[in-house]
Order: sequence, then C-alpha cells, then structure tokens
Amino acid sequence: MKALKQSLLVLVNLGTKIGGSMLTKVVVTGGAGFIGSHIVDKLVELGVSEIVVIDNFSSGRIENLLHHLGRGIVRVVEKDLRFMDSELIKAFQEADAVFHYAANPEVRISSIEPRLHFENNVVTTFNALECARLNDVEINVFASSSTVYGDAKVIPTPENYHPLDPISIYGASKLSCEVLYATYSKLYGFKALVLRYANVIGPRTSHGVIIDFIQKLSRNPTRLEILGDGSQKKSYLYVTEAVEASIHTLNFLIGNGLQYEVFNVGNDDWVTVREIADIIVEAMGLSNVKYEYKPMTHDGRGWPGDVKYMFLDITKLKNSGWRPSISSRRAVELTVKDLLNFKN
Ligand SMILES: NC(=O)c1ccc[n+]([C@@H]2O[C@H](COP(=O)([O-])OP(=O)(O)OC[C@H]3O[C@@H](n4cnc5c(N)ncnc54)[C@H](O)[C@@H]3O)[C@@H](O)[C@H]2O)c1
Repeated sequence: MKALKQSLLVLVNLGTKIGGSMLTKVVVTGGAGFIGSHIVDKLVELGVSEIVVIDNFSSGRIENLLHHLGRGIVRVVEKDLRFMDSELIKAFQEADAVFHYAANPEVRISSIEPRLHFENNVVTTFNALECARLNDVEINVFASSSTVYGDAKVIPTPENYHPLDPISIYGASKLSCEVLYATYSKLYGFKALVLRYANVIGPRTSHGVIIDFIQKLSRNPTRLEILGDGSQKKSYLYVTEAVEASIHTLNFLIGNGLQYEVFNVGNDDWVTVREIADIIVEAMGLSNVKYEYKPMTHDGRGWPGDVKYMFLDITKLKNSGWRPSISSRRAVELTVKDLLNFKN
C-alpha cells in the first residue's frame, strides 16, 4: 500500500477546515442520495479539488447535486456498483479517499426483498472495496448503521456492545460490510472508518417515518396510520451534524494514526414515533387527527426487523471532541419544516 499522500497528512495536521482543502480527489458512492449529497457539499466547502460521485440514481436525485454541476469540482459517474467493470475501477484512480454511502437504506423492504439488500448493500460494498484496493486508495469511510446491534440489551448502546445481533436483513447486510472493512483494513493496510449512524434526517431526506406521516396526512388530514404501537423510541441526528461528525472522526482517525475505528454517530436523546406524529400534526396546523396504530408484530413493532428502541451511546464520539448541538426533537422539527416548505 502506498504511503499516505501528503495531502492527507495536511488534512490531519491543519484540521478539518483548512486541511480538507488539501485533499485532491475523493470518491463518494451514493453521492446523489440524501446523506451522500450532504457529504459532497461539505467536501466542496472544505476545498477538495475533485469529487467523483458514483450513483445509479435508484433513489438518488441529480437535483441534490445541481448546485455543484458545471463548476469543475464534482463529476457524476452514473454507474451501478453491483457490477464491476473497467470504467468503475477507473473512477477510483488516484483517489485519496472513498466515502461509501451507496446502499438501499429501506430497512422495512429488506425483510420482503432480502436479495435487493444483499446485492445493493453487500455486493456494492465488496465492489467499492475492490475498486479501492485495485487503486491503492488509502482512506475508506463506510456508512454503517445502528441496526447492527439489533435489540440491544444495553441502552444507550456503546460500540463495544456484544453480541452484534441484527434483526433485519438490512442490519445483517451492514454488519457483513463492517466485517469486510475490518478484514480489508488488516490485509491491505487500509485506514477504515466505520460510522454507525442513528436515524439521520434533514433536507433531501427521501424515506422514513417523517415523510411517511406527511404524505399520509396530506392525503387524509383526519386520520394517521402509524405502523407499530407508537411507543417505538429512537434517536435522530440532523444531517449537517451527521456530516460534521463524519469529517471530525475521519480527522481523528488519521490524526491519531489509527487504522480501523468504529464510531456511533447519534444524538444525546431519543423520541417516540407518537411524539413525531404530534410534531407533524402541529406543524401542519391540524387538529383532532385520529391515530390508528398498526402493530406488525406481537410486541408492537412497525414491521418485522424494526428495532423498537434505538439509542446509541456516543461517549466515544464526544471524547474524540465532537458533540451534537441539535436534539432529536429539534432535528425532527427542522426536517418537518423543511419538507413542508419544499412541498408548498
Ligand atoms: N438515513 C439514515 O437514517 C441512515 C442511517 C444509517 C445508515 N445509513 C446509510 O447511509 C447511506 C446513505 O443513506 P441515505 O439515507 O442517504 O439513503 P439514499 O437512498 O438517499 O442514498 C443512497 C444512494 O445510493 C444510491 N445507490 C443505491 N444502490 C446503488 C447501486 N447499486 N449503485 C450505485 N448507487 C446506488 C442511491 O441512488 C442513492 O443515491 C446508506 O448506506 C445507508 O444505509 C443511513
């Protein structure tokens, strides 16, 4: 494996803001998607000179990147990462870092169509790692998920919680990918950063409970079908904070000469699905909405594989020097506001 490029050393030595500007080329898979496009925004802001977005636009949207196009920094390569070819490998050539965010993030669908998740999450990750290996890319960041813990018995759940015991195919796919990252890192000398995100929300979000409730209430403002018994409680992080934490932990990894690190990236609080419904009803100016709960399992989950209680322990993240400033509740409020403005 080639030595760390000078540019990355500068990234570490000078800190995120200035140092990022010394990165030359970064690949962002899934860069047209929700979190990926915010990663691209941040990399542009930090002064990275070449960003290659690889996306098949299955859920990603070119609109998420329009503000960067034609400026000579962001280049979009429309490719399906399930399939390896020379053009894909070439896109990673001379890259300093890869942020691998392409995946199918819909946990609910994963129990209905497991193959979809195996192919779009595990196969794409293997191919992204192969492209990185074949091009000697030194830094690899992976968007993992809180779902690798399954129904954790310790809440808040720390990174070293065992056993990692996913209850969805999505969670299983992310855990499989983590193992690939750990092994590639050991075998090929990659620096790998695995980020276990809580629920990330904010502008450009395209899936999840908030969108589901807004869409249902727009169709019928008198009743709201809530999947599960409404007591599901989870932690939410605003997307700009998720991105900040990601860049911060990358600097932490490199700055401390670490090879492979896993970080929980979440919030200090959590909210119930029922509270989210209340926030949306209020923001839409509705009243007397009848909530109709639809538990899909005997213990009130929204769907098979739904982790009912998710709250990550972010002590490690905080000890590294970053902490969230937007609470879960506030993140929900801001996201609802943004989605309603966008809709109108
Ligand atoms: N949003 C969250 O709450 C959350 C939480 C934990 C982890 N994650 C992970 O973060 C990453 C980004 O999630 P998101 O919420 O932005 O979802 P998203 O659907 O908006 O983004 C995923 C992107 O990957 C692209 N993609 C999917 N399959 C592909 C393929 N085969 N080839 C090329 N591109 C492909 C999609 O078109 C999309 O642009 C995913 O890996 C997801 O699993 C998200």
